Amino acid sequence: GLNIGILAIEVYTPRTYITQSSLEEHTSQPCGRYTLGLGQDAMAITGDAEDVNSMALTAVHSLLEKYNIDTKSVGRLEVGTETLVDKSKSTKTVLMDLFGYNTDVEGATVINACYGGTAALLNAFTWCESSAYDGRYAIVVAVDIAAYARGPARPTCGAGAVAVLVGRDAPLAFVDPRERATHACNVYDFFKPDHSVEYPVVDGGLSQVCYYRALEDCYDKFCDKMDRLENGDGEDDKWFRAESADYFVFHAPYNKLVQKSFGRVHLVDARREYGRRLKRDEEEKKLDPPLPQDVKPQGALAEEYLTMPIEDTYNDKALEAALKNISKESYAQRLTDSNAASKLVGNTYTASVFLGIASLIDGAGKRGDLTPGKTVVVFSYGSGALATVYRLHVREPSGSEGRVFTLDEMVNNLSLGERLASREKVHPSELDLALETRARMHRSGAPYSPVYPTLGRMFPGTYFLNGIDSKWVRSYSRV
Ligand code: ACO
Repeated sequence: GLNIGILAIEVYTPRTYITQSSLEEHTSQPCGRYTLGLGQDAMAITGDAEDVNSMALTAVHSLLEKYNIDTKSVGRLEVGTETLVDKSKSTKTVLMDLFGYNTDVEGATVINACYGGTAALLNAFTWCESSAYDGRYAIVVAVDIAAYARGPARPTCGAGAVAVLVGRDAPLAFVDPRERATHACNVYDFFKPDHSVEYPVVDGGLSQVCYYRALEDCYDKFCDKMDRLENGDGEDDKWFRAESADYFVFHAPYNKLVQKSFGRVHLVDARREYGRRLKRDEEEKKLDPPLPQDVKPQGALAEEYLTMPIEDTYNDKALEAALKNISKESYAQRLTDSNAASKLVGNTYTASVFLGIASLIDGAGKRGDLTPGKTVVVFSYGSGALATVYRLHVREPSGSEGRVFTLDEMVNNLSLGERLASREKVHPSELDLALETRARMHRSGAPYSPVYPTLGRMFPGTYFLNGIDSKWVRSYSRV
C-alpha cells in the first residue's frame, strides 16, 4: 500500500486564555456549571488582532520551519475553516505568501462548519493516491475562531489552527482507504446566515442530537465495512466494536459531549450484538425448531434499549447513566489523551479533530504507547451536516519516499503540553473584551486598526493582523 497519511503536525493556539471556573464566577453561574457540566477547564481567547488568515500563517510557517520543509516540495495546500474573513478570497491564497516562487500549488478553502478540515484531508489523501500525484507533499490547515453570542453557548468558544503535512509512507496512515464511512444530511442545527455578525445561529439541543445521529450512522456503517473487510468468517470475537480500536479522536465542542458520545458508541455496539444474536437464533430455529428460550440480551443494558427506535433513546437519562457506566473505563483508556488539549483550548471547530490527533500524539505518543499496529478511529462532525469516521494506523515508515517522518519527531516538535502550560491566564472579563473587538471589526468595515490582544501578549513567531486599509486589503506581520 501507499500508506498515505500524516507525516508532520503543528498546532497554534493563542497565548491568552481564561479558566472556566473563573468564567462561572464572573457570569454568576453556579460552581461547576462549565467545569463539571460541560467538562471544560479553560478556553483560548483572541480578539481583532488575529483572524483565521493570521492563525493559519502562524501554523504553516511554524510547520515548514520546524520540519525544515522546502516550500518547493509542496504541491497541494488546502484549508478548512468556517470563520470566513471574505466571501470570495480564500485563506489558501493568503498562505501563498509563504511559498515564494512556488505558485504551482493546488487546493482551495473548503467550507462546511466544523467538517472543512476533514474534507480537505480526504482531498489531500485522494490527490496523493491519484495518477495526478507528482511526488510532492500536501499541506492541510484547519483553523477557526469559535465565537458565540452571550448565552449558554458562550463557554464553548475557543480558537486554534492545526497544519498537517500529508504524504506517502506516513507513520500515521490510512493503511486501507476503505476504512471510513460518511453521514451527510440536511439539517439546520448550527449555521451562519447573518453576514453582519460573526456568531452562528445555533439550536444547542438539536445540534447535540444531530451529532449523535451522525456518529451512530457513521459508526454503524464503519463497523459493517470493518466486519466485511476483516471478519469474513463471522467469528464472534472478531466483530468490530469500540474495544477493537486502541484510541478514538472525536470532534470536541466540549468534553461532556464526547463522553456521552462514547457511551452512544457502546449503545450501537450492544444493538449490533443483539441483532447478530437474533439472526443466529433465527437460523438455528430453522435448523432445529422450535427453540424453547427467547433471545436474551447480555451485558448491562436492559433489553428495551436494544429494540426501541433509536430516536426514543436521546432524552433517556437512565440510559445515559447506564452508558456512562459501561463506557467509563474504556473512555479513560481510549479518549483521555485525545481530549487533553481541547479541555484547555475549547472548541476549535474544523481544527478540533486535528487538535485531538495532536493531543493523542503528545500524550500516548510521548509515553511510547503509539507503537506500530495500534489504531486510531477519528470521528469528525460538521453541522448542516457532514460527518466521517475514519481509521488511521500507527506504522513504522519504510523509508521508501526518501525523507522519513516519525512519531517521535512529531512528539518533539509539538511539545504541546508545555506550550499550553506556558500561556497567560487572563481575567474572565477579557472574553467579552476580545469578542467585542471582533464584533467592532465586523461592523466597522474599512479602514480598520486592531487593538486586542497587544503584540506583547502573543507568542514569538505569531502572525497578527496589521490592519485593513481603505481598499479593504488586509496585511499581516510576524511577532
Ligand atoms: N454543576 C455541575 N453540573 C451542572 C451544573 C453545576 N452547577 N449546572 C449545570 N450542570 C450540567 C447539567 O446538569 C447538564 O448535565 P448533563 O449534560 O449531564 O445533562 C450540563 O451541565 C449541561 O447543561 P445544560 O443546561 O443541559 O446545557 P447548557 O444550557 O449549558 O447548554 C449547550 C449546553 C447546548 C451545549 C450550549 O453550550 C451550546 O449551545 N453550545 C454550542 C453548540 C454545540 O457545541 N453543539 C455541539 C455539536 S455542534 C458544534 O460543534 C458547534
